[in-house]
Parts: sequence; structure tokens; C-alpha cells
Amino acid sequence: MKAKHFEAVRVNEHVYWVGAIDWGIRNFHGYTTSRGTTYNAYLILADKVTLIDTVKAPFLDELLGRIRSVIDPEKIDYIVSNHSEMDHTGSLPAVIDAVKPEKVFASKMGNKALAAHHLDRVEIEAVENGGSLSLGNLNLRFWETRMLHWPDSMVSYLAEDKLLFSQDGFGMHLASSERFADEIEPSILKQEAAKYYANILLPYSTLITRLLATVKEVGIDIKVLAPDHGPVWRKDFDILGWYGGWAKQKPTMKAVVAFDTMWHSTELMARAISEGLVEGGATVKVMPLGSSDRSEVVTELLDAGAFLVGSPTLNNNMFPTVADLLCYVRGLKPKNLVGQAFGSYGWSGESVNQLVRELEQMKVELVGEPAKVNYVPDETALARCKVLGRQVAEKIAEKLR
Ligand code: FEO
Repeated sequence: MKAKHFEAVRVNEHVYWVGAIDWGIRNFHGYTTSRGTTYNAYLILADKVTLIDTVKAPFLDELLGRIRSVIDPEKIDYIVSNHSEMDHTGSLPAVIDAVKPEKVFASKMGNKALAAHHLDRVEIEAVENGGSLSLGNLNLRFWETRMLHWPDSMVSYLAEDKLLFSQDGFGMHLASSERFADEIEPSILKQEAAKYYANILLPYSTLITRLLATVKEVGIDIKVLAPDHGPVWRKDFDILGWYGGWAKQKPTMKAVVAFDTMWHSTELMARAISEGLVEGGATVKVMPLGSSDRSEVVTELLDAGAFLVGSPTLNNNMFPTVADLLCYVRGLKPKNLVGQAFGSYGWSGESVNQLVRELEQMKVELVGEPAKVNYVPDETALARCKVLGRQVAEKIAEKLR
């Protein structure tokens, strides 16, 4: 079926946005995308007509429809694949069949990744890091950005237009009818960009710091920043400053208290700990896992100074929701946190020691003693929890001095 109702959006004289809007997605490999997302692809109308990235497989009709609103897809000469994750290459085989491009370009690692996705129907040329490609009247340059977000990742720069196609970098999961960041409420942009950074890019913060420094050193002038998710930036590049700050993971007086509870004992402990944290000068985000999901917790950790985790013992283990959270957080490698474990138990009581081991593995600096309560906390136990909260707040303040 040839969709005729999709329109491309002009980005500048040579470039059109031809991506897809996924209004309905709520789970992006474990990350809760409460505002949906976009899969951005861009069409460059140069002597050699070039498509930058494609979209997730179910959105092929939308991509081709938007391309068709500007040009016959068969007029595309080149496809550049900046990143081989399936949200950008899922439709690539079908696009190649429709477009029959002269060549596909990817980084060296991208070349290998696409081969391993059994994409052998076209010649894929590996581009050099720092290399360039003539499109006739315009020129593209490429820089590898390994691990931002996968080893194959690279960015492409349309030199004459000073336009950076930054693939996952500087993106956000935000479905919107507006295509440009300057058309969207700034607080929504910052909230979604922070969530995206925390859930996708946090482990690679050192690389982001290096990338931002390289952009400065090489003197890449950016007039348009065109990521593969969310809006395109054409002025007020606030997101560059936000990334610089988040990459440092500088702690603040914020403490995140995440827990689950069985019969409210661990919840009572969490509330007492929170009172102590506030008394000690911290701001607190209490996150019961019955109503807060893992990606929200990680987002709150982005600028936190402390992480406290609570769980009752269930069948000799921590609660499954808490295990899920810790597995997720561990992979994202948050830094510069202090914290402690707490929880209630009936008889065997393994959970708190398990939490302590998890926090140690994450290199969270433990403060005071873990709080462990048999069955139901009494006033003395809750007072101890409050003291723990105060101790943690004082430790954050000490580290910030
Ligand atoms: Fe948007 Fe790493 O894919």
C-alpha cells in the first residue's frame, strides 16, 4: 500500500524530516516511555539524494509516505545508517528493496553489525572515523561515537548546512506533533531529555564528556542538531548544557528512597528514614515500587546524592520488584552516591544483606548501619530509621562541602 497522507517536514533548504511518530509505545526495552517516541529519519536533497537512518519496522509505510511527499523513493542514491539498533534499522531491508540505493554507508562496526543482521542485499561501505562523503554539491562528514549508544554508533555532519545528525545522542522519547524543540514547552523537553539520558546514556557519561570536548576542540559549528528521537534543535541548544551537567553526575542534597513492602512494615521504615533525611537537610523522593517504575527511579538518581533501598524478605529473597530495580540500576552505573539498605522480615531475613551486597557492587558508599526490623517496627526501631536518614543527609552535605 502506498500511503499518501504522510507529509515530510522541512528542516532547512536541503533537509526534510521523514521519520515516524510512535504515539503508543510505553515500554522501550524496559524504559517506560510515557509520552511515546519518534524514530527520526532525514532526507537530504543533494546531487546524490541521501537518506539518513530509517525507522522501526512497523513504521515503514510512514517513512516511505513522507519521502514520497517530497521525492520518488527510487531517486535516493545513498542511505547512511548511523546506528544499527532496530528502532533505526528495523525497516532498512524493506527500504533498500523499495529504494534500491547505490550504496549504504555505516561505521566499521556498523558494517559488521548490519552484516550480522543478515543485510547482504546491498553493498555497505564502512566509512572512516573523521572521513567524508561527497554528495556532489554538499558534503557529509562522519565521526564514530562508540557506545553512544552501541559500538557501531556514529554521527553525520552536513558541513555546508552545519547540521549534525546525532542519532541517539541528544534525543528524547517524546511523541509530538511539533518537530522542533523551540515549539515545545521547555520543562517537558528537560524532563524527557533527563529521563532519556538516565535510562539510555548514563553508563557512558565519560564518553559524553569526551564527545562534548571533541566538538569544542574540532570546532564543529552546529546550526541544527537533528537526533533520531524527539524534536530537532535549531536554536537555543539547551540540551548541550544539560548533557554537560548530567555527564558529571554531580550529586545534590536529593535522596531517593526506593522500596517495596509486603504488610507495610518496610513502608513505615521508609517513611521514618525520609523524615530523618529531611531533618538532616535533604530533599527526598520516596518511591514505592508499587507505583514508581524502574525508569522513573533511575531518572531521579541522575542528580541525587543518596540512594536508599528497602525490601522485606520473601521466600529467602528480596522482593522481585526490588530485584528488578537493582538489576536495572546496576547496569546503568550511577555514580557519586551514598546510601543504605533497610527492610523488615519474619524469620530468615536475608533481604537486607542482599541489598547491602547490591549497593556495594554499585559502589554506593554505605552510611551507618543497615536497618533491619523483625515483623513490625516499634517506636525505637522507627527512631533508629530516622537517625539513619539524618546520618545519610549529613554524609551528602559533608561530601558536597
Ligand atoms: Fe534509538 Fe540505540 O537506538
